[in-house]
Amino acid sequence: MKAYQFVVPFLIIVRFGIGDLFNDPWRVLEIGQNEIIQVKESEKLSLKRSGVGFIDVTDHLSLPWGKKIKNAAPVPYYDYPQTVSQAGTVKKLIAEIDQVAMHDDLARFCSFFTRYYKSASGYESAQWLSSKLHNLTGELSSEIFEIEHFDHKKWKQFSIIFRVHGTETADNVIVIGSHQDSLNMIFPSLMPAPGADDDGSGTITSMEALRLYLKHLGNGHLPKNTIEFHFYSAEEGGLLGSMDVLGYYREQGRKVVAMVQQDMTGYVANKNDEHIGLVLDNANERLVNFLKVVIDAYVKIPYRETRCGYACSDHASATKNGFPSAFILESENAKTNRYIHTTMDTLDRLDFDHISEHVKISLATVIELSNWNFGK
Ligand code: BES
Ligand code: ZN
Repeated sequence: MKAYQFVVPFLIIVRFGIGDLFNDPWRVLEIGQNEIIQVKESEKLSLKRSGVGFIDVTDHLSLPWGKKIKNAAPVPYYDYPQTVSQAGTVKKLIAEIDQVAMHDDLARFCSFFTRYYKSASGYESAQWLSSKLHNLTGELSSEIFEIEHFDHKKWKQFSIIFRVHGTETADNVIVIGSHQDSLNMIFPSLMPAPGADDDGSGTITSMEALRLYLKHLGNGHLPKNTIEFHFYSAEEGGLLGSMDVLGYYREQGRKVVAMVQQDMTGYVANKNDEHIGLVLDNANERLVNFLKVVIDAYVKIPYRETRCGYACSDHASATKNGFPSAFILESENAKTNRYIHTTMDTLDRLDFDHISEHVKISLATVIELSNWNFGK
């Protein structure tokens, strides 16, 4: 017996008790369009290490004992603006992006040992994030917004939903998403996972866009449509958090008219070739076209279409539940941060000018769509 074969289980037992070691249930994963496999929980990590994207659909099967996933809901077609109409307002707000605050907040967010969704520190990081969001609301009347903790039955780290109620067509919901959890793919329960880029950067991008958007609200510009910022738990477990949230929205008959995910917004491989990645897998073409309009109008660098394999990030949960979605990435897939899922996914590797460009996209998307007529 090699030393590590003894040491690793020993360390797990010391840190988490005997339960985790023997608790290795079966999971059902979707690894491609209608391609289903069944693996042990522990095998999910090997899949991740070898780059296989999957949605863990164990809790979203149509029968409790069956392996048939609830059918993917068809995504309706919506029209989006073909040109921007809020340039004055958006540009004024963009000028106030605060890189120092983003840096400090991201440093704190990365200082949790790990934000692994099953860990104690992953629960504490969710509480920290929630308190930061509460602090953003300042003098705003509590009738305008709400902050919801979306609890997940099987793990403690909750997803967070910041909702600004629409004043006329509140049923039309625009969602900006990111995931708050991080993961060390070698030993998630034992080793640190700063997750600066994946997805601390997307979380901070959303927070800054939200801070500026709330300033806009404070000036009396209430949206006709509902605006939501989602901070999902357990993306790294196979989109578990977003499948719960968006599956619930579908069951409730809610109508998400656009969901834009920001996952990894801070790494620039070559400053002379800086660009934004627009991921096409599981994305809605019309929404992607609208994002191109936004990027052309407000962002200093060009976009590039890219692919990342199958599921990739939480926008896939939106698509699966019948909501049009898109995924904005720091660059084309081949040039993204290769330190993710390790102890080396740290703040010093990130570029805050680049993160600011991503903030502009979220902010402009929200402002351009907040009064857009999607129909009743
Ligand atoms: N942020 C990554 C996705 C990603 C990685 C996009 C590299 C582009 C380049 C995300 O958090 C992730 O790790 N996703 C999983 C798939 C998910 C369905 C479990 C992955 O890519 O392994
Ligand atoms: Zn990841």
